Amino acid sequence: MDKELTIRYSEYAKANDLTPSDRELAEAAERSAQFAYAPYSHFKVGAAVRLSDGRIVCGNNQENAAYPSGLCAERTALFAASAQYPDADGYDAIAIVGIDAEGHRCEASPCGACRQVMAEYEQRQRRGIRVLCCNADGGARVFGSVRDLLPFGFEF
Ligand code: THU
Repeated sequence: MDKELTIRYSEYAKANDLTPSDRELAEAAERSAQFAYAPYSHFKVGAAVRLSDGRIVCGNNQENAAYPSGLCAERTALFAASAQYPDADGYDAIAIVGIDAEGHRCEASPCGACRQVMAEYEQRQRRGIRVLCCNADGGARVFGSVRDLLPFGFEF
């Protein structure tokens, strides 16, 4: 039996199309991207996580001469949030944005490993974490749940 999977998401072209709270999160991600340590790829990524109590925790990619030892912005932000606020009542959203080698803002979509990590935090809290993949113009593609980005992900 063949089956089909449909993914729903919303697309907001510009910053002003986002809600004030999402815009604030996207701006935090962009600010954080400036502080990325990316001397090898020259591709800076910023991520901002909104905790359910409204607090925002940011992270950015941290590279290393031993390439696989570096870490993406999304995991840096989520691990920092979980490490600093272990009693927080989960996460509402994560915004991600890239800055290319020319310093231009550009879209960044989470890698597979980050999707796996985000999926486990989502599974733990039993409600969706919204994912905002911000674009070059301040807008974003918004997914209601990490599951939309990682269907049939590993869990046990
Ligand atoms: N990177 C992230 O931080 N997040 C993503 O969603 C994709 C890729 C980083 C890893 C590496 O430091 C650089 O971007 C280029 O791959």
